[in-house]
Amino acid sequence: MGNYSIALVPGDGIGPEVLSLAVDVLDAVGDKYDHVFNYVELIAGGKAIDSTGEPLPAETLEAAKQCDALLLGAVGGPKWDTLPGHLRPERALLGLRSGLGVYANLRPASLFPQLRLACPLKDEVLIAGNSEGKPDFDLLIVRELTGGLYFGERGRSADGNSAFDTETYSKAEIERVLRVGYSAAKLRRKKLCVVDKANVLESSRLWREVSGEIAKEYSDIETSYLYVDNCAMQLIRAPGQFDVIVTSNLFGDILSDEASVLTGSIGMLASASLAGSGCVSGKEPVMGIYEPIHGSAPDIAGKDIANPLAAILSTAMLLRYSIGLEKEAAAVETAVSAVLDQGLRTGDIASRNGASDKEKIVGTIEMGKAVLKVLEEK
Ligand code: IPM
Ligand code: MG
Repeated sequence: MGNYSIALVPGDGIGPEVLSLAVDVLDAVGDKYDHVFNYVELIAGGKAIDSTGEPLPAETLEAAKQCDALLLGAVGGPKWDTLPGHLRPERALLGLRSGLGVYANLRPASLFPQLRLACPLKDEVLIAGNSEGKPDFDLLIVRELTGGLYFGERGRSADGNSAFDTETYSKAEIERVLRVGYSAAKLRRKKLCVVDKANVLESSRLWREVSGEIAKEYSDIETSYLYVDNCAMQLIRAPGQFDVIVTSNLFGDILSDEASVLTGSIGMLASASLAGSGCVSGKEPVMGIYEPIHGSAPDIAGKDIANPLAAILSTAMLLRYSIGLEKEAAAVETAVSAVLDQGLRTGDIASRNGASDKEKIVGTIEMGKAVLKVLEEK
């Protein structure tokens, strides 16, 4: 029996609707496996701007630091799009990431076999590069999350006619995120690809230099290197070739959106942000931020059509990486797979060739409740 405190930031747009189902799922896991989750609801993003004038109130960050993990919906929306950069809702995400020191962002992208027809790639493309010759892929993007262009110096020239953002990385920042990537690769297919733009960027050349050194310590892992443009192409040419990809903040942001489409929809991709490789089972919880990688999708908010599975799968990552509850995490993933077996689909993951007979298009709530039902029954 465990007692855990979970910070909740429902946020804006579809954030609250997908997060409330994710919380129901955590509670169902709690009931079933005898854990208690105590929630601390916090504001950040647009909601916080509306009520306090700033995207990340100091109390939110302080309260989050006291919790075992943070579950986040999404932030942002057109209402706040014209605010200056430092007051935009997205600043809340950056502030939480750096304030909690979670420098390694794990974004797994694999294909549920039930969603094969929601994946836009042909069989032959999926088979290319897949070591087992199957139309399948299973990759993990480890995105550096608290450095690079997102946090470098930026500004405008005095006359306002030019602007700049800077990509800065220290050796220590590169090394620590690489080590998280290697730890993950050890538990997977033992391949790690460093993605950069070392043919042009000096910061990328430092990434190569550091990874060249670190790679020597991991002789059981096959290390490779790709330029980011080539990686973007390889992802849609032969995604099965990838196991773990480690890359910078901006490149990871872009490549993970691309990879998400291969799984059927960005509505399927969960993420974990950690300061390290996460909790070792039986040890103290390790703080992490868990969030679906999709945004706040204001155009579909409140319509009961958003896909809650990325948020629900994020709770599985929370259980695994922050609390070390592998069995419970796997139960959530199995329940998601079971509702896909039942043919339930939100619109975004319907088969691309027209829904097959077996598929039933459902709304956000029905999808979430179906996952709950499986968890409660099993
Ligand atoms: C993500 C999002 C954020 C990012 C935005 C909303 C600031 O796109 O988590 O991938 O760029 O990191
Ligand atoms: Mg993104």
